[in-house]
Amino acid sequence: MSDIKRIVLSSDHAAIDLRQAVATHVTAKGYEVVDIGPTTTESTHYPLHGKAAAERVASGDCDLGIILCGTGQGIMMAANKVPGIRCGVCSDTFSAAMIRAHNNANMLSIGARVVGEGIALEIVDAYLDAEFEGGRHGKRVDMIES
Ligand code: RB5
Repeated sequence: MSDIKRIVLSSDHAAIDLRQAVATHVTAKGYEVVDIGPTTTESTHYPLHGKAAAERVASGDCDLGIILCGTGQGIMMAANKVPGIRCGVCSDTFSAAMIRAHNNANMLSIGARVVGEGIALEIVDAYLDAEFEGGRHGKRVDMIES
């Protein structure tokens, strides 16, 4: 494991069960999980939860974030509005590894209505096990930020 230790998790109501499975999985991998909810399946608003998780990463309180909603798209859009956040939606393991390796993504988004739990946990593994390659990819990431 690299210097990544604390991982913030959040979701909307559409992804409560998958978020709990991700929390258990990520904890078992040895990371500290900061699960900021919500805890009930009552209908809520994904921008609130995407932004709250993104702020934990942008502030440095957490090293990375994993967020979930029905498609993964809305919560990703909200997270990416927070300066310094690079969040990608992934439904496959190749993309999940590449958003770390090439894009230095500090957040991963998953659609709970798109992928089942087994694939979702493999996506989480691919994302967390990958490392940013730097070099020419670093220049390109800098261009996103400027
Ligand atoms: C909630 O019904 C749904 O719109 C939300 O989870 C997500 O898919 C939005 O992008």
